[in-house]
Amino acid sequence: MNIDVLLGLQWGDEGKGKIVDVLTPRYDIIARFQGGPNAGHTIEFDGKKFILHLIPSGIFNPRAKNLIGNGVIIDPFILLKEIKNLEGAGIEAANNLLISRKAHLILPTHRMLDAASEASRGKEKIGSTLKGIGPAYSDKTGRNGIRMGDTGHKGFKDMYEKLRDIHMRRLEFYDFDPSGTELDGLPFREYEQKWLEAVVSASKLKLVDSEYYINRAMQQGKKVLAEGAQGTLLDIDFGSYPYVTSSNTVSAGVCSGLGVAPSKIREVFGVFKAYCTRVGSGPFPTELDDAEGEKMRKEGREYGSTTGRPRRCGWLDMVALNYAIMINGVTQLFMMKTDVLSPFEKLKVSTQYKDSGRITDTLPFDYGREKVEPVYRELPGWNTGIQHLRSVDQFPAPLTSYISFIEEHTGVPVRIVSVGPDREQTVI
Ligand code: GDP
Ligand code: IMO
Ligand code: MG
Repeated sequence: MNIDVLLGLQWGDEGKGKIVDVLTPRYDIIARFQGGPNAGHTIEFDGKKFILHLIPSGIFNPRAKNLIGNGVIIDPFILLKEIKNLEGAGIEAANNLLISRKAHLILPTHRMLDAASEASRGKEKIGSTLKGIGPAYSDKTGRNGIRMGDTGHKGFKDMYEKLRDIHMRRLEFYDFDPSGTELDGLPFREYEQKWLEAVVSASKLKLVDSEYYINRAMQQGKKVLAEGAQGTLLDIDFGSYPYVTSSNTVSAGVCSGLGVAPSKIREVFGVFKAYCTRVGSGPFPTELDDAEGEKMRKEGREYGSTTGRPRRCGWLDMVALNYAIMINGVTQLFMMKTDVLSPFEKLKVSTQYKDSGRITDTLPFDYGREKVEPVYRELPGWNTGIQHLRSVDQFPAPLTSYISFIEEHTGVPVRIVSVGPDREQTVI
């Protein structure tokens, strides 16, 4: 059996968590392949709401196994907290969770290095979630990292202290005082103790050689869905560098983040919002810095799932969407948060950019520095509530036209339309 991939086509928060949960009954294994607790994936059903950071969004279906792959970086403190929260709500998280021995750890000092690096950038800060993502991936590629499989090793404490002390010296270089910093509301040394306790607990979770686990499962005919975190425009290679995250968020990341061959990838589900949002700094050509943007933020409750920061909002950007479809090889589109556009009488969609007076339909090398201007096409809004709709034939005509417009301009079918945050508010 093959693996299907679901990932974000914009700047993250497209609604990946919701739709993974909806699709989980069709799969045996849901696997995260990159990112870490910078992710915040929201799932709503039966009047309950959960936000997952590290655990794959298949966890609410007791039949599915959930795998955290080698490409993910794990903060054991956050992971344990997440498992406890789920167990408190009656969900058997630890039982259905498998973790790659090769996944790297986020140390408390990685989080401080993240904060120090951001502070040193001043106005040019990335707007990181401050979960230690950049520093932890840097240690991985710099070959200094510590992995989940090391947590049960008797030399773990030494490995930890050695790396922590290197970080401490780096923090001095930044003039950053660890003793004056709180992590999760605790002074550094207290948090460090809690973190080390979490490492002991994490070492007792189901650790696996995930590349063997997943390939054997596929050989046995099991169905696997890879769940992306962040979005294509935050990819370390293809995003709006340097305003990106530190992993490959695109479909290529599935191969290195899980150990599956490219030939095993079947469908690539590209998830996008009917408009655009971005949280953190960096270019956003169709951003609305006005009352319309504010209206989108209010209607879409656009505040970060991980940090609570207000998300920047703007119109759908087809130049960026087509770029993401190309990089990922998207075979089906899932349009999310469609209901959020209901209050708008007229909708705009950017189909091209004006770059130094020249019309283009490609993303420029550095669209942070070279300011591009969106060229808009205006489309009629449906201007009526749609959260209660459950089938395509109930869609108002302007919504059907909006979908057709997207399909025509991308050449990819829109197979799911989400009309509300709840599991049930989904038209397939
Ligand atoms: P993810 O990171 O891609 O999983 O997305 P987030 O969970 O960070 O952000 C998506 C937000 O939109 C969450 O609050 C979801 O509950 C919510 N959401 C998802 N789909 C829809 C939808 O179709 N309509 C509305 N109104 N909200 C949605
Ligand atoms: P999900 O999986 C939206 C953004 C941050 C910042 C940049 C770098 O929920 O879609 P990092 O902490 O990775 O160093 O931050 O990336 N970012 C996200 N934005 N959704 C996410 O994840 C994000 N993860 C990171 O805001 O701009
Ligand atoms: Mg999110």
